[in-house]
Order: sequence, then C-alpha cells, then structure tokens
Amino acid sequence: MSSMDRIVNLCKRRGFVFPSAEIYGGFGGFWDWGPLGLKMKNNIKNVWWHDFVLTWQDVVGMDGSIITNPKVWEASGHAANFVDRLVECTACHHRFKADDTGGSCPDCSRPLMPARTFNTMFTTQVGPVAATANRAYLRPETAQSIFANFENVRDTMRLKLPFGIAQIGKAFRNEITPGNFIFRSREFEQMELEYFVWPEKSDEYFAELVDTCYNWFVKLGLNPEHLRKYVYPANELAHYSRATTDIEYAFPIEQGWSELMGVANRTDYDLRRHGQFAKGDEQAFATPTDDEGNKKVVPYVIEPSMGVDRAALAFLLDAYEEVSGGRTTTTDSVKEKEIVLHIHKSLAPYQAAVLPLSKKPVLVKVAEEITKTLRQHWSTDYDVTGSIGKRYRRQDEIGTPYCITVDFDTLDGGKRPKGTVTIRDRDTMAQDDIAIPEIVDYFRAKLAS
Ligand code: GAP
Repeated sequence: MSSMDRIVNLCKRRGFVFPSAEIYGGFGGFWDWGPLGLKMKNNIKNVWWHDFVLTWQDVVGMDGSIITNPKVWEASGHAANFVDRLVECTACHHRFKADDTGGSCPDCSRPLMPARTFNTMFTTQVGPVAATANRAYLRPETAQSIFANFENVRDTMRLKLPFGIAQIGKAFRNEITPGNFIFRSREFEQMELEYFVWPEKSDEYFAELVDTCYNWFVKLGLNPEHLRKYVYPANELAHYSRATTDIEYAFPIEQGWSELMGVANRTDYDLRRHGQFAKGDEQAFATPTDDEGNKKVVPYVIEPSMGVDRAALAFLLDAYEEVSGGRTTTTDSVKEKEIVLHIHKSLAPYQAAVLPLSKKPVLVKVAEEITKTLRQHWSTDYDVTGSIGKRYRRQDEIGTPYCITVDFDTLDGGKRPKGTVTIRDRDTMAQDDIAIPEIVDYFRAKLAS
C-alpha cells in the first residue's frame, strides 16, 4: 500500500475524512470531514489564527461572503484569466488538463481533440431567474474579499502601514482533475493573510514572511527534509506578482515535490484594479505613509496563502509511522503492525484520553471525574472498551499524545501512591505517576510547547 493509500485508509477508518456523500458513490473532488478530522482541521486553523493574527499587533481578521458582486472577479482578473486548458480524448471522451498529457490520451493512448480554455470558477445564479445577468461565482480564493474591503477595514480599525488583514474560509475551484485525496479538491479552505506594506519595503517583508511560513510548518512537526522553497523564475511569475516562493512538500504523488502553500508579493495590482473598477480611480485606495498624511501610496501586499486541507494532508503524511511487530516490549505478544500518528500535540484531535482499567464502577467514577475536569481545558477522549493495550493502540493511531490510566493503585495504592494515575506518552511510551489534583498543571506544562 502506498503511503497516500495508508492515510486515505486511516482517515476513512478512524473518522477523519470520508468521500462526500459516499452512500451515493461519492462526488469527484469533494470530501466530508468526520469527527476527528474536523477536530484536527479546527486545530490547524486555530493555531494559524493564533500565530498569524492574534499574536501580531497589526493584523486583524475578517470573514467575507462566499458569493459576492461579480464585478470583484472582473477587477481581479479571475473572470478573464482563471482558466485551465482542457483536452478531451476523441475515443473515450475522458477529459484532462492539457498540461498533464503528452499529446495523447493518458487512459487509452488515442488522439486528443484540440485544447479548449475553461474558467475554473463555479457559477451560480442569484435570484430566481436563470439569466446571464444574474450569474455569480463561488469565490476561488478568499483574498479578493479582503481587497474589496480594504477601505472599510483600514478606516474602521484606524490601521496604518504596515498592517494585515487575514481570513480563513472556503474556496471553490472546478478543477479539471481533482485528485490525490484532499491534495486537490473542488471545495477546500484557505488561510490567507494580506499584509499591506510600503512599496519600497515589500522585498524585505516578502523574505520575512517566506521564512515565517516555512518555520511555522517546522514548528508544527514537518520534517525539514520533506520541505523546500521553490523560488519562481521571472518567466513563471503571475502577471500581478513581483516575487513568488512556494513552500513545497514531498507529497507521495506522481508529481513528487508540490506546492504546500505560496507566498507572493502581489504589488499594488489588486488595490489599483479595485480602485479603477469600483471608483474609476487607480489611486482610490492610496494610503498615508506617515502620521501627517503628507504622502500617500497605493500599498503593496505580501500574501502568504495556505490551503487548510493540503496542510492537513502534509501533517498526516509526516506524522504516520507503521511499526511492524508492534512497539511493546513488555509483553511477548507480537502484533502484526502498530500505527502511531506522531502529530503535533496542538493539532491532535484529542490531547488526552482517559482509560479506566476496567468497567468496575469505582474506577469508572474516578475516570469520569478526571475526564470532566480535563474537558474544561482540552479535547479529551474517554474509552473503557477493550484491553488496555488495545486502547493505547487506538489512541496511538489517532495521535492522542497522552493516555491517563485509572487503576486499582489509584484507589488503594500499591506499586504507586494512592490517588495517582499513570500518564503515558504516545511517542516514548514512558509513563509518569501523577497525583489527580496535579493532572491539569501537568498538562499545562506538557501542552505549552
Ligand atoms: N490567493 C492566492 C491563491 O489562492 P493559490 O496558489 O491558487 O493562491 C493557495 O492557492 C493555496 O490554496 C495553495 O498553496 C494550496 O495550499 C491551496 N489550494 C489551491 N487549490 C487547491 C485545491 N484545488 N485543493 C486544495 N487546496 C488548494
């Protein structure tokens, strides 16, 4: 089984991600997030929001609508340029991105029809009449609602350069060839920061943000050997970009190293275009460069843009370990294989799991009380079914960093002092004996990093 298949399998089996509407055969390029996947995805978004918005004094957030005035997409250039070249096989009629074929059909090797361009924005209609005049689009990126609201946000929050506006939200692209699980889908989420700066300082901020993003992935556990920066040569830059660097991850897919996220210096292109389209003045969103407002410039913008789903896939792939024969050395029983998800503690669906040794009411009562306390602070699972070894393995597989066992020593003492539990570390399997009233402080210290 390939490493991607293992992740797809784990995600299905343990409630991370399911094919959308699987009971109807799924729907190409759409996925439903299950209970554990949702927890992990929310954690990714929360950590990003904390690290790129809450802890920066000059970044604010917003939440724009998914469907908006179609003029936004004319101004941004998406209506005219957000296209892919599509080819269709003359025999089997399968369709492909023109760039992905070597001139003949990848499925049956027969000749292809000439390439056609195709806009990858999804269209819909607003109002009850299906007329072209009522056509609107599902946003293909979150960035444009930030540009369209630049003036509103700047003025209501009294922001001065440099400042940022961030947004997390859904984006939609009618990809010709979605695939590789959640790597390329037709509905996904983005975490985007538009950081507005003085034009002459944009190169500096750009370099800084590239490093900040790279370090963010490393901090959250991605192996630096699986990460690299791809600096776009001038001839590959989008028309609005002065510089773009992708952070690439060694995804186990046909193309190999692929974009995990991108950082672009988008210059003043977007603000000028919206100025021109909305107000007939390219300079409409010029902003004072000093407190006296003597000089105004249309700011440049540095944009780190990440896909939540694609980041989730990278975190899962990097965290996955399969140990043949099992990890336990304390018993003779040899397992066929054990799976451990070494995912960063802050991203794991559960930070802790409470496991009473058996279903005996005296143990269950203490374990339930501990669970209730921990749930005030962290996502905590409670599991009482199966052998303790089996339960440890279940938690290892979904990446729970700590398992708390309540046993008879907790009640009566014995090998450990009365009133203590054991806390097992997912990665080292080392166990600490901790007094019940100290569990919260123990986790505060352990989960702080
Ligand atoms: N505002 C800039 C922008 O949207 P992009 O490179 O087209 O730039 C940014 O997209 C990020 O969004 C990508 O690096 C990727 O993480 C994610 N992304 C883009 N298309 C995607 C898709 N079809 N499925 C999943 N994620 C996608």
